[in-house]
Amino acid sequence: MAERTLIIIKPDAVQRHLAGRIIARLERKGLKLVAAKLMQIPEEVARRHYAAHRDQPFFEPAVKFMTSAPSLLMVWEADGIVDMARKIIGSTFGYDAQPGTIRGDFGCSQRYNLIHGSDSPESAEKEIASFFSPDEIIDYDLVDSAWLYSPRISSKK
Ligand code: PPS
Repeated sequence: MAERTLIIIKPDAVQRHLAGRIIARLERKGLKLVAAKLMQIPEEVARRHYAAHRDQPFFEPAVKFMTSAPSLLMVWEADGIVDMARKIIGSTFGYDAQPGTIRGDFGCSQRYNLIHGSDSPESAEKEIASFFSPDEIIDYDLVDSAWLYSPRISSKK
């Protein structure tokens, strides 16, 4: 199975009608969507999601923001997707994210940073399991996969 990542289109992006444009950026890269649902994240789930940052001053405001309105949660799949998605997303805060990235192009806020992408394959697995049951993730073939993914040669020399 190819690598997977959890993508959350956050409440600010849903409210600002940006969900479609954000999804288009992942689609045009050739990434594969394997699960999606709109939900208002429950407080206890948001607390668990940000548990590593529980001692940071932004923890409570981040939980409040993430639970304030619906988010669009998705699982995307491709070899190396965690790093690819984070490059497409851009650095944490809109005001210093690179133009051309989602955060760099659509926002200039600190907390309202539009989108979450897992930071490692290991955290992706845990995050996906906290939002999706296995039967909500769909295994299917993309008809253009032979043209999108050439066989990889591991050496970069
Ligand atoms: S990221 O997006 O993973 O590169 O962000 P990182 O710098 O590792 O931060 C981890 C998560 O904490 C959020 N964060 C903040 N939220 C609100 N206010 C402030 N100041 C803040 N600093 C960091 C950041 O958005 C990351 O959460 P996610 O859900 O991944 O975006």
